[in-house]
Amino acid sequence: MAELKVLVSGTGRMGRQVAAAVLAEPGMTPAAYVDGLAERGALDGMPVFRDAAIALDEAKPDVVVDFTNAAWTPAIAREALQRGVPLVIGTTGLSQEFMGWLERETAARGVGAVVAANFAISAVLMMHFARVAARFFDHAEIIELHHDQKVDSPSGTAKATAEGMLAARGRPFTRPLPELETVPGARGAELGGVSIHAVRLPGLVAHQEVLFGGQGQTLSIRQDSTGRDSFMPGVLLAIREVVQRKGLVVGLEGLLGLA
Ligand SMILES: NC(=O)c1ccc[n+]([C@@H]2O[C@H](COP(=O)([O-])OP(=O)(O)OC[C@H]3O[C@@H](n4cnc5c(N)ncnc54)[C@H](O)[C@@H]3O)[C@@H](O)[C@H]2O)c1
Repeated sequence: MAELKVLVSGTGRMGRQVAAAVLAEPGMTPAAYVDGLAERGALDGMPVFRDAAIALDEAKPDVVVDFTNAAWTPAIAREALQRGVPLVIGTTGLSQEFMGWLERETAARGVGAVVAANFAISAVLMMHFARVAARFFDHAEIIELHHDQKVDSPSGTAKATAEGMLAARGRPFTRPLPELETVPGARGAELGGVSIHAVRLPGLVAHQEVLFGGQGQTLSIRQDSTGRDSFMPGVLLAIREVVQRKGLVVGLEGLLGLA
């Protein structure tokens, strides 16, 4: 089989890690970068395009992998799908409106797309175990911990975890509120009765703990990504899968047989 040519959308921390992982992986090769905010015309021995349409027409990729910003992802997705190029999207904070459009557009065009809030297989398992546990506990809280440069709070993973727990359970969790809140927001954000606490510190990468409480017992499910390389096996799997699929797959679970 011919080498899969990958256009990497984003020259940030994740984009460059993806380009290196694709370069090291047999059967695929990074063709170019595209980044709407890029300052340089070349990086890591590859061209860097600023315009999505030009990048696609020049690089002629088989797959686009996007790790950028929710403001940019719709632009690259629109241009890629118009050309029948499948997408692997890791950018978080995407709007419901965009996700709805992506689902309709991939189905109508018969092109594949994978959107995953977390490509670390350990994180996908953590979310899976949290969904299983959600049926057996009325109280749950999420503590997510990330590096201090992260733009969105809470993390896409924390939101996806809480939403998955709610869907598995079919009703909201019980969330006790203090009679007196001496510091506003002390109980964290709330999604369906799940309190979500976002920690931002230099030195962290991506970590999450899901805590359940019941009569005389608690359950903690903890996942740690200690480096961005933790996301690469999931991204490489998604690249191989997306070229064979039609329509939208949300979450790596669907590719791991956990859905
Ligand atoms: N799904 C996962 O497993 C996973 C893992 C880590 C990070 N992420 C997400 O990936 C994204 C990128 O993370 P990162 O650490 O590489 O960030 P980063 O800040 O290092 O890089 C972001 C890139 O996006 C580009 N960009 C930002 N805003 C833009 C805009 N408006 N128009 C065009 N380009 C723009 C920047 O130029 C930069 O190249 C974030 O959304 C992050 O939450 C997802």
